[in-house]
Amino acid sequence: MTSASNRVGTRAVKVASASEIPFDEPTAFTVEEEEILIVNRADGIYAIDNICTHAEAYLDMGDYHAESCEIECPLHDGRFCLRTGAATAAPCVIPVKSYTVYLAGDDVMVELPGRLL
Ligand code: FES
Repeated sequence: MTSASNRVGTRAVKVASASEIPFDEPTAFTVEEEEILIVNRADGIYAIDNICTHAEAYLDMGDYHAESCEIECPLHDGRFCLRTGAATAAPCVIPVKSYTVYLAGDDVMVELPGRLL
């Protein structure tokens, strides 16, 4: 039997203050066990996993392509869409996680998976 009390949803976690996230410059943060890459652009604020799904390089060490809103992995030049986490260039084929991110006052919040206590 399923009830509201045993569902595991999401929880909002503060990543940083808005002033800690530079404009149009992907920046990595560690939030609990998650490595998250956030970019604050004119068209929105986006958050994806900072670890490449190909061979686990740190994406924040790669090149940012502002015109296509992609991050290029520093190890083998694969790319990911910062808006969706989709793999957009080989050798990457598996997307990275994309997180819901929003401002709450001056706090930048991401939604992480819920967990049981
Ligand atoms: S580790 Fe990222 S493309 Fe290979």
